[in-house]
Order: sequence, then structure tokens, then C-alpha cells
Amino acid sequence: MAHIKRLHFQHFRNAEQLRCELGTGLNLFIGDNAAGKTSVLEALWFLATGRSFRNAQIGQLIQHSHPQTTLFIELHSQRQPLNPLRIGVQRQAQHNLMRLNGENVRAHSEIAQHLPLQLLTPESHRLLEEGPNARRQFMDWGCFYQFADFIQLWRQQKRLLKQRNQALKQRLPAQQIQLWDAPLVESAIQIDQMRRHYLEGLTPLLQDYCQTLMPELSESVVCHYRAGWPKGNDDLLGLFKDNLGRDLALGHTQYGAHRADIRFRFGGQEAMQKLSRGQQKLFVCALLLAQAKLHQNLTEEPAIMLIDDLPAELDATHRHTLLKLLAELNIQHIVTSTALNLIPLIHPSSIKAWKIEQGVLQALNLEKSTSPEI
Ligand SMILES: Nc1ncnc2c1ncn2[C@@H]1O[C@H](COP(=O)(O)OP(=O)(O)OP(=O)(O)O)[C@@H](O)[C@H]1O
Ligand SMILES: [Mg+2]
Repeated sequence: MAHIKRLHFQHFRNAEQLRCELGTGLNLFIGDNAAGKTSVLEALWFLATGRSFRNAQIGQLIQHSHPQTTLFIELHSQRQPLNPLRIGVQRQAQHNLMRLNGENVRAHSEIAQHLPLQLLTPESHRLLEEGPNARRQFMDWGCFYQFADFIQLWRQQKRLLKQRNQALKQRLPAQQIQLWDAPLVESAIQIDQMRRHYLEGLTPLLQDYCQTLMPELSESVVCHYRAGWPKGNDDLLGLFKDNLGRDLALGHTQYGAHRADIRFRFGGQEAMQKLSRGQQKLFVCALLLAQAKLHQNLTEEPAIMLIDDLPAELDATHRHTLLKLLAELNIQHIVTSTALNLIPLIHPSSIKAWKIEQGVLQALNLEKSTSPEI
């Protein structure tokens, strides 16, 4: 299975040097507030995506008074058990160096391809609450790993959209604006097909996980996909043409794959209205578990789940259920918590745990701490 084995971070946030060897299942980082727990997950996320999930500027990630941060992991995979992948990123304020097995790479997507990270944080319920951006990112995560040409199409549509929007803002003649329409429509339609296909595969798994995590709900979840243009209208090119006046007035393109969304409904009721706050968090867990399961079915390489502050997310019963489901999925999960006794230790002998204090790790021996005192 794909899992991070060794990690070594240097000058990241409050950690001078952070080194450890992770296990293939549950990995726990326990520490008080401001110890550096979220930073460990943030460093991994940054390694895979080139971004922070805390909306931080890159400069804030580099330890104060140091010119750069260096992050390194060794990734073991089922496909190449004897050849672990060495992934390194060195980041200065303006300069970024990324390496895969000692070779320079240009795009973070080349690293992400090997490092399918999923993230659950205390803010994850925003996936339901906020605008469509996070839900599109969720779908596109799946499409990125399922369809080899998705990233190419996605980049192309982003570039074309930017050019068309610039032409609209500059109020160029209609003919010039419409030069972008046909290629933009073509990439939008392909992206749309991939997203539909992805959600079709995901929905039954999501329904199963919702049932396991929230058996109290009598209705099954239904995913309503929205393409980004009016339902039933297949002539996107015609829509572009008919709406040029409005696009010019707004200064941007109204319809297209960049406006896609998913609505989740239970018995016709929006998830946001139907579910309690805790259930919304459980629903996001179900989404991630379904995504991880589908990823595993399609690629035979498991995803890696990062969970920040698990106790803030779920009550004791659901913490237990989630960790059990992750153990059944057999994927590596890296979990933070302020206290060890808030984490159900289902298979203590297979768990690896550390105490973190001011960015410094100390390995914990769980078997010892759970055995009775004599
Ligand atoms: N660039 C930096 N250089 C040095 N220290 C930093 C830098 N950025 C953040 N810190 C410090 O790193 C510490 C770790 O923060 P982090 O958010 O990882 O802690 P945490 O263990 O997740 O805490 P909490 O339980 O409150 O969520 C904080 O004290 C913060 O002030
Ligand atoms: Mg934190």
C-alpha cells in the first residue's frame, strides 16, 4: 500500500528539525495547543500541493529567521515495493525547488500524482456551508486521479477562461471575444463528462458510509450535480453567444465548467438544512471515506488521510467508528489530538504515536501506557 514511511522537515513553522518513521495505519501526533500538530499535516499538504490549507502565505510557513524550509518524505507503494519514492521540496520566499527521486520536477501535480492526500480539519464542514469552490475541488480531486488527461483539460479551461474574461473586461469586439468560445466549450464538456462519471461511481459508496455513520437517518443521500449552465441545455456554445451582452456587462463568463457544483439532498431536503452540525461533520467524513474507497478501487493504491484535531470533529462513538472504518479501508491515516485519552486505540500494537512539544517529537510507547500499572 502507498504510505509515507520516513519524513524529515526542516525549519517549517515552529519545527527546527522534525523526523520520524510512520506506520502504515494510524499515526498519532499528540500535543497541547500551539505545539505544532497542525503544522505537521500542513507540511505534508504543502509538499503535495504547494499550498497551505490554512490560507497562509508561503513566507509564514518558513520558520522565523530562516531563509528556507526543506521538506522530505519517502513514499512506499505497492506498485514498486522495492523502490520507494523520494519526494523533496525546498521553499524560499520566492524560489521553489521540487524533486522526485533526485530529479527536478516543474509542477506540483507531478508530486500530487504520487501522493493522494485527503484532509479532514475542524473547518471541513464548510464544504457544505460555503460556496461551490470547495465542492468543485472535492470532485476535481477524484477526477485528477481517475482520468489521466483531466489535469491538462483543467489547466486549458482555466487559461481559456482567463483569456475570455480579459477580452470581456477590455470590451474587445464580439468576434475577438468569441474566438475563445469553441475551445472553452469543448474543454468544459469533457470536464463535465468526467465529473458526472466520477460522481456516479462515488454516490453508492457515499450512501453506504452515510448509512454506517448516521444510521438514524431514514433517507439516503442523493447527489445533484450541476454542470455550470442551465439544466437540459446542451448547446453551451449557443448559450455563450446569446449571453454575450450580459457577460460584457458583468465582465466575466457566466456559464461553464468553472461554475459547476454538487448539492446533497436527503429526501428532497438540502443536507445543510436536514443535518445537525455534528451530522454535517459526519457527512464530510462519509464523503472522504467514499472518495478514499473509490480511489482504492480504481487505482489499487490507497489514499492517505490527514485528520486534524479528531476530537474537535466527532464524539467518542463516532471517533471509534471512523477509526474502525479507516482501519478496514487499510489506509495510512495521520491524526492529531490534544490528548491521547480522546483517541480510541483499537489496535494498539499497530499504532505509532508521538508527543509533540514546541515542534519537537518524542515517540510514545502505547502498549506500555495502556497496560495496567503494577
Ligand atoms: N514561521 C513560523 N516560525 C516559527 N514559529 C511559527 C511559525 N508559524 C507558526 N509558528 C508557531 O508554531 C506553533 C504551532 O502552531 P500549530 O498551529 O501547528 O499548533 P497546534 O499544535 O496545531 O495547536 P492547536 O492545538 O492550537 O491547533 C504556534 O505556536 C505558532 O506561533
Ligand atoms: Mg492545530
